[in-house]
Order: sequence, then structure tokens, then C-alpha cells
Amino acid sequence: MIIAIDGPAASGKGTIGKRLAAHYRLRHLDTGLLYRAVGKTVLDAGKKPDDRIAAIAAAQALDLSRFNEAVLKSAEVGEAASYVSAIPEVRAALVDFQRNFAVTPPGAVLDGRDIGTVICPDADVKIFVTASPETRAARRAAEYRAGGKTIDDATVLADIRKRDERDSSRSAAPLKQAADAVLLDTTTMGVEDAVKAAIAIVESKRLR
Ligand code: DC
Repeated sequence: MIIAIDGPAASGKGTIGKRLAAHYRLRHLDTGLLYRAVGKTVLDAGKKPDDRIAAIAAAQALDLSRFNEAVLKSAEVGEAASYVSAIPEVRAALVDFQRNFAVTPPGAVLDGRDIGTVICPDADVKIFVTASPETRAARRAAEYRAGGKTIDDATVLADIRKRDERDSSRSAAPLKQAADAVLLDTTTMGVEDAVKAAIAIVESKRLR
């Protein structure tokens, strides 16, 4: 089974993806890590994240075998990722890895922005996870605070709005709900309710 989960930053798609993978004993890929790894490579080389040549070279040479999540989850790397991910050649360099990951038995849960629309258009289940920008900003700010970072909610909200705009308005594989995806709005849900709702969506598709 292949489950495609898409949605904006901090919508809860990563947590839901991990939990669905454990529940159905599938492998899990947080595809945002791929773009974050490209963004980080560009930053580490002292280049700007909108440097096309540097970003394409980084994507084509990326070691896809392991990722240091803790390092890649910073706000700075997320911002860089949202620039490099708008470059078509960067996306193209990462397609085969994602598709191979998805079809390797017993299947997988992939979360990102274009899984249901571009990477796995034939996924068995597609879920588009969303939440209001304010809720997503509050969640992100709480994560940063838990990690010992002081950052105010208004700054995080402004960043989230900027990221939404950039991810949705780019011409290469913009963030968009697939026509056959089920919408899951987690604005008023805690993690457990959101996971339960996601499992219910998978079950409703499996019974068809
Ligand atoms: O989900 P995330 O915050 O880790 O994603 C980081 C950036 O990568 C985000 O701004 C958009 C981009 N991204 C993408 O374009 N396509 C994906 N499948 C996953 C992430």
C-alpha cells in the first residue's frame, strides 16, 4: 500500500505520516528532508539558497542514504529548502529516489507537498492535511521553545505565511490538494484525534 500525505508547513503531516507508517507497518519518508538536505548543503558551501547552479549540483550529488533530522529541522534550513525546492532541476534529481522508495515492498507512507499530485499520482490513499496558519505557527513555536529556542509567535506566523505563499505559488509542483485526496483539517485536533481521523480515511479507502 502507498499512502501519500501532502500539506503546508506544520500542518501535522509528518507526525501523521510517522504514525500511519507504524500502524500499517509501512516504511516512511519525510520528503521535506530531501529538500532540507539540499538547502543545507548550499548554505554550508557559503552560497545563497536561491543560487540555482549550487542547488542543482547539491541535489544531484546528495547522499540519499541518511539524514540528520535534528540538524535539518532548523528554521534556517527550512527557509533554504523552500527556495531550492522551487527549482525544477532540483525536484527532478529527487524524483526517482522517492518513487523507488514508494514502490519497494511492503509500500510506504510519503509526506510532502507534491506526493499525491506528482510523485505518486496512483497512491492507494491520498490525504491532504491542513490547519489554520495561526494553529500551525503556534505548533512550530512550541517545537522551537521545546528545543530551547526563544522565538515569538508573530515571527513564526509571518514565516509560515511566507512559506505557504512560496510553496503554493511556484510553478514547479506547487503545493496543491490532489483532486482525489481527502482533506483532513487538524486545526482543532490534538495528535491522537488527528491520527485516528487519518486511520479512518485509510480504512474507508481500503474497504472500497
Ligand atoms: O515539510 P518541510 O517543512 O520539511 O519542507 C521544507 C520545504 O521543502 C518546504 O518549504 C517545501 C519543500 N518541499 C517540497 O517542495 N516538496 C516536498 N515534497 C517536500 C518539501
